[in-house]
Amino acid sequence: MQQTVTILGIESSCDDTAAAVVRGVPGAGGGEILSSVVAGQNELHAAFGGVVPEIAARAHAERVDVCVEQALDVAGMRLGEVDAIAVTSGPGLIGGVMSGVMAAKGLAAGSGKPLIGVNHLAGHALTPRLTDGLDFPYLMLLVSGGHCQFIAVEGADRFHRLGGTIDDAPGEAFDKTAKLLALGYPGGPEVERAALDGDPQRFKFPRPLLDRPGCDMSFSGLKTALRRERDRIVAEKSGLTVQDRADLCAGFQLAVADVLAEKSRRACGAFQERFNAPAPVIAVAGGVAANTLIREKLEAVAGEQGFRFLAPPLALCTDNAAMIAWAGLEQMALPDFDPQAEIVARPRWPLDKSAAPMLGSGKKGAKA
Ligand code: KG4
Ligand code: ZN
Repeated sequence: MQQTVTILGIESSCDDTAAAVVRGVPGAGGGEILSSVVAGQNELHAAFGGVVPEIAARAHAERVDVCVEQALDVAGMRLGEVDAIAVTSGPGLIGGVMSGVMAAKGLAAGSGKPLIGVNHLAGHALTPRLTDGLDFPYLMLLVSGGHCQFIAVEGADRFHRLGGTIDDAPGEAFDKTAKLLALGYPGGPEVERAALDGDPQRFKFPRPLLDRPGCDMSFSGLKTALRRERDRIVAEKSGLTVQDRADLCAGFQLAVADVLAEKSRRACGAFQERFNAPAPVIAVAGGVAANTLIREKLEAVAGEQGFRFLAPPLALCTDNAAMIAWAGLEQMALPDFDPQAEIVARPRWPLDKSAAPMLGSGKKGAKA
């Protein structure tokens, strides 16, 4: 029988610097979040319409100590009172990951606490265990600015990828669309707002890869199709009206939602072929899960497939350190857990080591 432990988590793999304190019993579902501090960087990257890695890394290095102090303060604890420190050691923007790992190594060396390296995607994938005490296995759709994949979560270190994007992540496509239409950053909420007044049927955008079996997805062609329509209107009328922009956003959003819905339907089928679970659950994580239309469509698919739909609170769906602390805590229950293991920052670190690398994963191998 494992004892209750308290973990300090640190996250810095993209554009959020975060620290959190989480308590729970390794191996058992359901944790207590004593604090969760997130310092976003949207204002630093807004002018560029996307995350600039060097700016992000410097901001993480400047902010991580402050976040850790705040997280301990809110939890009412001193560093000496936590049982271990968990840090995201990949995958992600390497400068940012290194900022977090170096800070965590310093804290661990100074306090004598064990240090646990956590896969950022495992943090997202295990969040439903933290928030809802979900039992394994369950299906997870991760849809963020950097990632898009269906994962069968079978254990704290057992992940089976059922499919994923072969190019852009949906959030990235929303951000690029917003940039093409001179909307703000991050693009998702801006595109969603503009789409409210738009006619989703005016432009016929493609539904990439629906003609191909399986759960893989592609979103970069959608953004190119949108650019083409934009350029055509601009050539015709020397500019876009507010209505043109709204219609483009609505058409784009519906295409993304349709693709995610159909691929989720297939992922539910593939999951049940593998597990035949009596009460299957599909959980979502990532910033794109905040989109109302996408969420409604996913919920409808889940219902139709006999799955319970679970969306953790948005603050735990997007990048945060509570999920990293929790994933570290889950690792402590694994038979091969080694508190002395060397922690190395990794830009690429696929969750499912056995899955074939996705197209576009680069010559260094699969990113995630
Ligand atoms: O999970 P997240 O906060 O960060 C990572 O990418 O790791 O996700 C951010 C992404 C951005 O690309 C943002 O444009 C997108 O999520 N996003 C949305 C919405 N809110 C955020 N996309 C569509 N609709 C939204 N309402
Ligand atoms: Zn993330």
